[in-house]
Amino acid sequence: MILPVWLTLSLLLQGPPAPGPRDSIRLVVHADSARDTISRNIYGQFAEHLGHGIYDGLWTKGAGGRWHLRDDVVAALRKIHVPNVRWPGGCFADRYHWKDGIGPPERRPTIVNTTWGGVTEDNSFGTHEYLELVDRLGAAPFIVANVGSGTPEEMAQWWEYVNFDGTSPMAGLRGRNGHPAPWSVRLWGVGNESWGCGGNMTPEYYANVYRRFVTFLPAYGKTRPFRIATGPNTDDYHWTDVVMRDAGRMIDGLDLHYYTVVGSWAKKGSATEFTEREWFTALEKALHIEELVTRHAAIMDRYDPQKRVALVVGEWGLWHDVEPGTNPAFLYQQNTLRDALVAAVSLDIFNRHADRVRMANIAQMINVLQAMILTQGDRMILTPTYHVFEMYTVHQDATLLPISFEGGEARYEYEGRSIPAVSATASRDREGKIHMTITNLDPHRARTVSADVRGATVTSVSGRVLTAGAMNAHNTFEQPDAVGPAVFDGARVSDSQLTIELPPKSIVVLALQ
Ligand code: AHR
Repeated sequence: MILPVWLTLSLLLQGPPAPGPRDSIRLVVHADSARDTISRNIYGQFAEHLGHGIYDGLWTKGAGGRWHLRDDVVAALRKIHVPNVRWPGGCFADRYHWKDGIGPPERRPTIVNTTWGGVTEDNSFGTHEYLELVDRLGAAPFIVANVGSGTPEEMAQWWEYVNFDGTSPMAGLRGRNGHPAPWSVRLWGVGNESWGCGGNMTPEYYANVYRRFVTFLPAYGKTRPFRIATGPNTDDYHWTDVVMRDAGRMIDGLDLHYYTVVGSWAKKGSATEFTEREWFTALEKALHIEELVTRHAAIMDRYDPQKRVALVVGEWGLWHDVEPGTNPAFLYQQNTLRDALVAAVSLDIFNRHADRVRMANIAQMINVLQAMILTQGDRMILTPTYHVFEMYTVHQDATLLPISFEGGEARYEYEGRSIPAVSATASRDREGKIHMTITNLDPHRARTVSADVRGATVTSVSGRVLTAGAMNAHNTFEQPDAVGPAVFDGARVSDSQLTIELPPKSIVVLALQ
């Protein structure tokens, strides 16, 4: 047998992993007990006026100094079927006055982005430009309105500007700015992190402010607001309890924020230079969102047993130290295979909780935090996280097929701690095709997974794999394709039994037939 280069190298460097009984894993895909739909909105993105997320990321200066959307970035994002884009922040949202970003660009005021580096912002990217972006992506807009330093009147006028179809002051202004037809924006955030940068409010105070603001979001024709309240910071269960108790009946989505920080907030750690301990810790901390989602959902169940209100994970992802030499306020970080695995296990958790988690937004789309795309001048690279989002498109709006592990879950153990060795999602799409994404968290041990697909006949399988020789493998402008999906030939079907030879530190997507 000829071993792939990455496996040969890793065997030489680390020695062969000791074989053990847990190298073999048995799982059952319950195709006969499908229930919930995995909302496409779980695969949402977040684009804030922060660093080079918008300017020089999505929005670039062309000939004659005119700003425009980057075609290469738009084309790449279309391939991952972005369902929605959360904008304009983030902390920026509660300082943003939307009227600064409409009308002829040369007449728009310049402002100072006090949250993110004190840089001057020319407002050339505003409401019309954002709505052109989401239109080109085929995505839904998700606007976060200013509650912290804005007024209900300002927010209500924005809502009228983008949605009213008829004769009104804001519809007239929109027409004079070149867009007579309304856009129909439904997803509407009412403040961002109102417990922190959005106003430092208590949950009791915010619940009242929220009720006041949403009173001024009327339905216009068929456009009804999907009202998204500031949700808890990480494990602030008191916030969820009070906001659901006092305002739950006026909420459609509650926006939980959770970041995976490997070290401390003061010293988060490098995106690319790390040991196995930091690999393990990143995954262990990312998996913590399972507990957060479960416990916040349990509180929501008390006030909303019908699960009408969605739990929205409006900001999530790995937050590292910035790349050396870059502006600390711009949150620019590299993205390795470790980030890809964090994305995969997080998305698996959201998928498994599809009954309550019906929307999520990774932070952030371009050049900021755990990005899909990094740009440098005219060039662009796709990150390992991008590839995970591309591989997981098969689950968008598909029906979740529950998975159970037989004989217990295999564990990845490190220095006396342990986490699940394997994470997976299975779903059936609208054409009836079953897909599975399966991740091996262990950087050393391959796993043999035997899967029994109950309630479906499987005769063939094909797939792709995302892996690399090193835990910190990543794409650079010099080597843009160091980490990317490849054809996977480690899966086979025999007597309707699926066997997958899962390489260490890998993510596999399979199509079953
Ligand atoms: O994503 C970066 C920042 O993190 C956002 O602006 C804020 O909402 C969060 O604290």
